[in-house]
Amino acid sequence: MVETIADRIIVPLDVPTKAQAIALLDQLPQVTFWKVGLELFVSAGPDILTELKNRQKKIFLDLKFHDIPNTVAGACRAAARYGVDLLTIHATCGKEALKAAQSAAVEGAAESGNAVPNLLAITVLTSLNARALAFDLKIPLELPEYALHLALLAQESGLAGAVCSPQEVKQLRYTCRDRFLLVCPGVRPSGSEAGDQRRTLTPCAAMNAGANYLVIGRPITAAADPALAFHQICEELIVKPA
Ligand code: C5P
Repeated sequence: MVETIADRIIVPLDVPTKAQAIALLDQLPQVTFWKVGLELFVSAGPDILTELKNRQKKIFLDLKFHDIPNTVAGACRAAARYGVDLLTIHATCGKEALKAAQSAAVEGAAESGNAVPNLLAITVLTSLNARALAFDLKIPLELPEYALHLALLAQESGLAGAVCSPQEVKQLRYTCRDRFLLVCPGVRPSGSEAGDQRRTLTPCAAMNAGANYLVIGRPITAAADPALAFHQICEELIVKPA
């Protein structure tokens, strides 16, 4: 099936209960790709994935695994059995853990007869700025070099792609070439609140810089009219195509 601009916008179900998630799904039937993150998965469990599957939605299971190789492999094997489309692990787990996670995702998918999920590496969270990286985390590299280094580590380890800030996507796209998936949160249509995000760009700028998918949450879900907010973002992307 041909992917439309709307299919490239992933909306997070960042709510605490299954009932609230279902209310959001009902409110935005035109959204085809949903993200289930830590809050909802911890509170509602895998039932929410079944709900999304029943509605023929694509699923980004964003649990950002970070652990030793054996543990992340077990988690990825289990997640792949749910038949999700995208899955995340922190690149800072290291090469051995990334490779083990990738192999386990392939095994989990084969065991359950599902397609292999695209395993994405989290590079540098979009809520961190250069100051936090240097002073709090004591990372000696600057952005985007550090994000680029982590994306290349993921690529060498056989992962399908990475999650990065829209401010780094241009350089990552150039270096990692065309087939590496780049998913950008931290996207803010002009005039919307940044909230806790620190390294943002507009949807058009992020797509033009090379993102495959955009994760856009509060500018849609916290809008007075979420359906209108989603529509306006799609329109803007169609008028100024990537
Ligand atoms: O509401 P907002 O658009 O900021 O939502 C962004 C979503 O993307 C959240 O669900 C957040 O967990 C996720 N995310 C992020 N930064 C990353 C990876 C994922 O903001 N590096």
